[in-house]
Amino acid sequence: MRVLSGIQPTGRPHWGNFFGAIRQYIDLQGEHEGFYFIADLHALTTIRDAKTLRQNTLDAALDMLALGLDPDRATLFVQSQVPEVTELTWILMTSTPMGLLERCHAYKDKKAKGLVADAGLFTYPVLMAADILAYDSQIVPVGQDQVQHIEVCRDLAGSFNHEFGETFKLPIAKTLEHGAKVPGTDGEKMSKSYDNTLPLFGDVKAIRKSIMRIVTDARPMEDAKDPESDHLFQFYRLFASTDDVEAMAQIYRGGGFGYGDVKKKVADASEAYFATARAKRVDLEKNLDYVHGVLARGAERARQVAGGVVGRAKKACGLAG
Ligand code: ADP
Ligand code: TRP
Repeated sequence: MRVLSGIQPTGRPHWGNFFGAIRQYIDLQGEHEGFYFIADLHALTTIRDAKTLRQNTLDAALDMLALGLDPDRATLFVQSQVPEVTELTWILMTSTPMGLLERCHAYKDKKAKGLVADAGLFTYPVLMAADILAYDSQIVPVGQDQVQHIEVCRDLAGSFNHEFGETFKLPIAKTLEHGAKVPGTDGEKMSKSYDNTLPLFGDVKAIRKSIMRIVTDARPMEDAKDPESDHLFQFYRLFASTDDVEAMAQIYRGGGFGYGDVKKKVADASEAYFATARAKRVDLEKNLDYVHGVLARGAERARQVAGGVVGRAKKACGLAG
C-alpha cells in the first residue's frame, strides 16, 4: 500500500505535529511504501518572504530526517519540485463545487474572523487533493484537523472517475487514538497559530520552562481529579508506558497530589524521548549536502510516479500529451 502525507514548512514542529502526524510516518515506513513531502506551495499562502520559506523548507527536511524518516525506505521531497501536481490541481478545479470549498474550515475560519481570503487559501484543499491523487496514495496519516480535506479529496476523485472513467484511487485518512488532537499549553488544540506549542527541537531549558508554566486548574491538592479531562495528563500519556499511565490515572483519581510533580515528569519524559532526534539533527546540520541529495533523489522518484498518474488523468479527460 502507498502511504503519503505532507507537512507545511510554516514554523518549528511541535508535539502535535509529531504525535498526530510524523510519528505515523515513521511507524508506517517499515511495512508500506511511503511518500512524504514538505508542502511549500501550501505554505506560500501564509509565508510571504522568500528567505524564510526557503529556510523553513530545509528545516522541515532536517526535522523529518532527525525524527527517523529513512530515505532508503521512504521518498522525501519538496512539493513544488513536482509541477505535475499543480497541473492536476487545475484539472480537479474544473469540477470542484464552490460550496464544497466554502465549507472547508481554513477558509471558513478566516472568513468568520472578518479577514479577506485569497483564491490560494480558498482552493487549498484542491491542491491537497492533487498531492494525494498524483501518487495513487491509499493511506494518508494526519491529525484530526486534516480529515475533512481528505474527504474533499475522495469527493473530487469520485466525481472525476464518474465523469471520465476509473482514473484515481480513493485514499483513506489514518489518525491515531491518542495524538489525533494534542492539546496545547492552554488546553486548546496545539497549533503554531495559537502560540501554545511545545517544540520538538530547540533550547531544552526553555522548553522545560514552558512545561512548568502550563496552565492548570486551581483545584486544591486534596481534590480527586478526572485524568481524562486534564491536558497535563494527556501530555503524560504521550510519553509514558501503559502501566505508568494507569498508575498516574490512579493518582489523579485519589487526589492529594500537586500538578508541579506531573509537570516535572512530563518534562523529564519528553526530554529523554526526543534526545536522540535532537542529537541527530545537530549532525545533519553539519551535512547539508547529504540532505539536499536526499531531496533531489526524492523529487526525481516523485516526478516519475506523478508523471504516470497525471498522464493517465489527462488522457482520460481529453487533454493533449
Ligand atoms: P499547525 O496547526 O501547528 O499549523 P500543521 O497544520 O502544519 O500544524 O499540521 C501538520 C500535521 O500535524 C497535520 O497532519 C496535522 O493534522 C498535525 N497536527 C497539527 N496540530 C496537531 C495537534 N494539536 N494534534 C494532532 N495533530 C496535529
Ligand atoms: N494541509 C496539510 C496541513 O496543513 C499539509 C498537506 C498538504 C497534506 N498536502 C497534503 C497532508 C497531502 C496530507 C496529504 O497539515
